[in-house]
Amino acid sequence: MDSANLHSHDVLILGAGAAGLMAAIEAGRRGRSVAVLERAERPGKKILISGGGRCNFTNLHTRPDNFLSANSHFAKSALARYAPADFIRLVERHGIAYHEKTLGQLFCDGSAQQIVNLLMRECADAGVRVLPSTAVREVRRDDSSGAFTVVAGSGEFTAPALVVATGGLSIPKMGATGFGYDIARQFQIPIEQCRPALAPFTLAGAEHARFADLAGVSAPVIATAGKRSFREKMLFTHRGLSGPAILQISSYWKRPEAIRIDWAPEQELLASLRAANARRDSAAAKAALRMWLPVRLADRLLDAAAPNSWTNRALDELELRLHAWTLTPSGTEGYEKAEVTAGGVSTSALSAQTMECRSVPGLYFIGEVVDVTGHLGGFNFQWAWASGAAAGRAV
Ligand code: FDA
Repeated sequence: MDSANLHSHDVLILGAGAAGLMAAIEAGRRGRSVAVLERAERPGKKILISGGGRCNFTNLHTRPDNFLSANSHFAKSALARYAPADFIRLVERHGIAYHEKTLGQLFCDGSAQQIVNLLMRECADAGVRVLPSTAVREVRRDDSSGAFTVVAGSGEFTAPALVVATGGLSIPKMGATGFGYDIARQFQIPIEQCRPALAPFTLAGAEHARFADLAGVSAPVIATAGKRSFREKMLFTHRGLSGPAILQISSYWKRPEAIRIDWAPEQELLASLRAANARRDSAAAKAALRMWLPVRLADRLLDAAAPNSWTNRALDELELRLHAWTLTPSGTEGYEKAEVTAGGVSTSALSAQTMECRSVPGLYFIGEVVDVTGHLGGFNFQWAWASGAAAGRAV
């Protein structure tokens, strides 16, 4: 290789997303010479589309319980050492106005571009080279020196430390690739099976027919999959179900299990039918449900579940059913619509303090490519910042 095209650094970072840029900033601040190699024509593309263009950049209530992983303890150390308050300080230092939307979720008042600008300015201040349009094609490791060589763009890059921050499989349209997992396989690092998470559900057959024309109707519910429940809004779509409550439980759902919906948490929906001399029939029940639910949804549920007779027992059963309505998704809308990828590089192979592979000194994995997946609400960026900072302070 022509020496003009061979670039030596202390640290190479693959991927200029949230995690890679944070790792670069922390390492650059420590005086390391850092290059970030990014295949897209500009850095932080997923940040730009996040949070509806306003980037839900963290969550005030971040706790280890907000993350899924085969090892539920793994994320604790990094999350404790880079907290939401640390990123908020950075946001404030850059004069970016923000607000809490709901449930601790912090969004930019302006646009997600401000977060990308913040990261790029911090990179420049820390002397980091960010190289867009530089797709990484190959990674090699010299067994004797332990140094890494990366073939990317029209050059080769070498460094004793390599940080893989190439993200997950969600939104292939935006260029998501499995490259990070390929590197893990190359170095015999185990991978927890990947699956789409924070994804809408599809319905099929009779359930699809029953609800499809309610597309656009939403209601605040408690949605449950397995042992996890989320109290948020649910939305009917042409293909099935979406909205925050559904996206949250999709991360826990296992095909072919049913999910449960409580259509009116803590409300006794049919109370008015139990009064002395009250009318007891389908019309009275619909009127009762319409007090709490959108009219079309109330009617649809009653059409599906009205009993033949209106005894006390039948009312009890209907009330119970309305608080634990079962639906069986036919699947999710897949990586095309999933906000994140669950599973990924096994945490059993990584140090929880530094994200370095135990079996391959100098090789680090951070961000979404790792088997740590946040709930909806700013937790995935908090993981990207925290795991990026952990690696950036160690390389
Ligand atoms: P990320 O995917 O951001 O970056 C990886 C980078 O690596 C990419 O830039 C990619 O081009 C690059 N790359 C891949 N292969 C490469 C190769 N071979 N060579 C060089 N570069 C390569 N989370 C949250 O907390 N709040 C929110 O508001 C949202 N909103 C949101 C909306 C939508 C529509 C989606 C799809 C996702 C979200 N998320 C979110 C999730 C969040 O965007 C996600 O968890 C983080 O971006 C993950 O950051 P990473 O840096 O790990 O990967």
